[in-house]
Amino acid sequence: MRVAEAIDTELPWAVLLANTAGRAAMHGMVEVSRARYVFGTDFEREAERLALGERLWDPGTIDRLTALGIGPGTRCLEVGAGRGSIAAWLVEQGASVTALDLDTSRLEWLRDRDVSVVRGDIGADDLSETGYDVVHARLVVQHLGDRAAAVRRMCAALRPGGHLVLEDTDTASLFSTAAGVLHPDVKRAAYAVMTGAGYHPRCGLLDIDLATEAGLADVRADGRAEVVTGGTDQGRWFALWLEHLRPAMLAAGEVTAAQLDHAMADLADPRHRWLSQVMVTVTGRRPGETR
Ligand SMILES: C[S@@+](CC[C@H](N)C(=O)[O-])C[C@H]1O[C@@H](n2cnc3c(N)ncnc32)[C@H](O)[C@@H]1O
Repeated sequence: MRVAEAIDTELPWAVLLANTAGRAAMHGMVEVSRARYVFGTDFEREAERLALGERLWDPGTIDRLTALGIGPGTRCLEVGAGRGSIAAWLVEQGASVTALDLDTSRLEWLRDRDVSVVRGDIGADDLSETGYDVVHARLVVQHLGDRAAAVRRMCAALRPGGHLVLEDTDTASLFSTAAGVLHPDVKRAAYAVMTGAGYHPRCGLLDIDLATEAGLADVRADGRAEVVTGGTDQGRWFALWLEHLRPAMLAAGEVTAAQLDHAMADLADPRHRWLSQVMVTVTGRRPGETR
């Protein structure tokens, strides 16, 4: 499937086309050098945002990793490890764990727990260590420029028979309510900023093709969404997402400060309830021996 076919038609084409990187993203041609991690800013509440995301998505991720039989001796690579909750969980199961990220500043605490913390760019660098039983990346591939090359790199790091687990979102459902969609203009403006930085808003579904094209066998996918109530920890993850993107959204001129303030107030209001994105988990096995 071409990237262009996978991008949600509800995205603001006018905004995307007004921006060169966005135009390239639409045609699946984002250059590696152009892709920059959209949340790699000095937003002072980023650690809090990552922690809330972990709370929202970790239970489902842990269910899926548990099904692979993680235990003592399993060699795991956590790509784009963020704040490190999944790397910490893996090591608690007795696994031997490497946590890789562009920014390891939030992973230093894991060194005391026998996690090997490595600074690296999965979008550009081949992995020096290979032979992993499990490689996992959540909310990472959808931020990358050359997604196919990154997935091939992760596959090459697996031992024959090892499993790749990719988790990325499909954003179509986000902010759906029983009455419609909460602040669709704000949602469109946020994803326009992200798409301009190389992000793919339908990547969860695209991961199935990326895993298959990288040569994995037994590729499977499932999705999960959360029902989020305003003012809860889950709701705050979405509010901090908008807060992080606020300067870029205002600079792009697609929403006003008043629209953003209104959206933030609704996300803090327990009378509002909305659907999250769908987190798609794609699992595949590197062909070859199993053990
Ligand atoms: C949205 S966060 C997700 C963090 C974590 N995986 C989670 O789900 O809680 C994306 C993470 O990937 C990292 N990242 C982004 N681009 C990367 C790249 N090219 N190579 C390695 N890590 C990257 C970021 O620094 C960030 O920690």
